[in-house]
Amino acid sequence: MKLKSPFIIGSGPISYNAEGVIRAHKAGAGAVVTKTLRDSAAKNPYPHISKAGSSTLINAEKWTDLEPETWINEEIPKINKESKDLNLIVSLGHTIPEVKNWVEKIENAGVGAIEIVSYREDSIIKMVEIAKRRVDVPIILKVSPNWSDPVDTAVKAVEAGADAITVMDSVGPVLRIDINTAQPLVAGENGMGWMTGKSIRPIAQAIIVQLAKKVDVPIIGLGGVMEAEDAIEILMAGSTAVGICTTLLTHGVDYLHKLNDDTKKLAQNLGYQDINEVSRSALVNLSSEENKEKFNFEFFKDKCIDCQRCVEVCPYQARELENMNMKLDEESCRYCGFCASVCPTDALIIV
Ligand SMILES: Cc1cc2nc3c(=O)[nH]c(=O)nc-3n(C[C@H](O)[C@H](O)[C@H](O)COP(=O)(O)O)c2cc1C
Repeated sequence: MKLKSPFIIGSGPISYNAEGVIRAHKAGAGAVVTKTLRDSAAKNPYPHISKAGSSTLINAEKWTDLEPETWINEEIPKINKESKDLNLIVSLGHTIPEVKNWVEKIENAGVGAIEIVSYREDSIIKMVEIAKRRVDVPIILKVSPNWSDPVDTAVKAVEAGADAITVMDSVGPVLRIDINTAQPLVAGENGMGWMTGKSIRPIAQAIIVQLAKKVDVPIIGLGGVMEAEDAIEILMAGSTAVGICTTLLTHGVDYLHKLNDDTKKLAQNLGYQDINEVSRSALVNLSSEENKEKFNFEFFKDKCIDCQRCVEVCPYQARELENMNMKLDEESCRYCGFCASVCPTDALIIV
């Protein structure tokens, strides 16, 4: 599958039906993953999507609210008729019988790839094996951060034939309550839902780096990419392409034009010829061994604004900043690096 843009629309409300898929394609998506198909249409609780802090959402939305036959007989043919160059990935979950029921019918409807997803870790390898045996289109495994060992399970899925890995699904269950009303933000079981957006990207990246060192298949880095900087970072961590869902929900689908432009420009400004070069570029710095050597600090007086943040945050009281003279008590300092990380002007850096 060749992508005209590194961005793949993750399974979710944006790709709720053919119209949604086509709209995302027109906005510049490299590929679009449909909302997840199951044996029957979902009935969602009301309400089921809410803002939950800065650039973070909580949702209690289930799979597609269309019947699988509707996708196969109406939506997929409509997508293929109206957008011939669209890379369509159909998401299929969440059990072994459902893979058996639908995987061939989905392939026959005409799709670029099938993404297999499950809340349960114990059946996912079998689901991949069955899909691989029954169809020829590429099979993508979607990793859940809520499994007990997402990296090991993904490696086993690749051994079972998975052609690519998407990292990752929403994080949860989580709970948020509106303290003015004592009501949950979404109406899932016990008020619980699933978290997406900015807060979850570091979790995705930790899974991606471990996987990128163990498997050779493409990795779609999906989780918390809100802007160009995030896309570059998730690529550096080992992704081949960048998945997005929440950022288009919060900004609207046309934001993808800006995301594509900004990411291309940022890659160039950082000295990369193109996006493919960014992929995996941080892996050489992400050693599997811990660093045991102390580092040096460097202080640039001309950049210091005397905000005293470095002094305030040191738990060991090792720093002093008086009259723009920086002092470090090397005996007390644990070289945790926190002081340099909070400096707003890079006056204090780690060498
Ligand atoms: C409202 C909502 C509905 C979702 N529905 C599905 C779904 O049906 N199937 C699925 O595999 N993932 C679903 N997801 C998860 C996304 O595909 C994605 O894995 C997750 O949102 C993390 O990416 P993001 O931080 O860019 O949103 C949904 C996410 C949201 C926010």
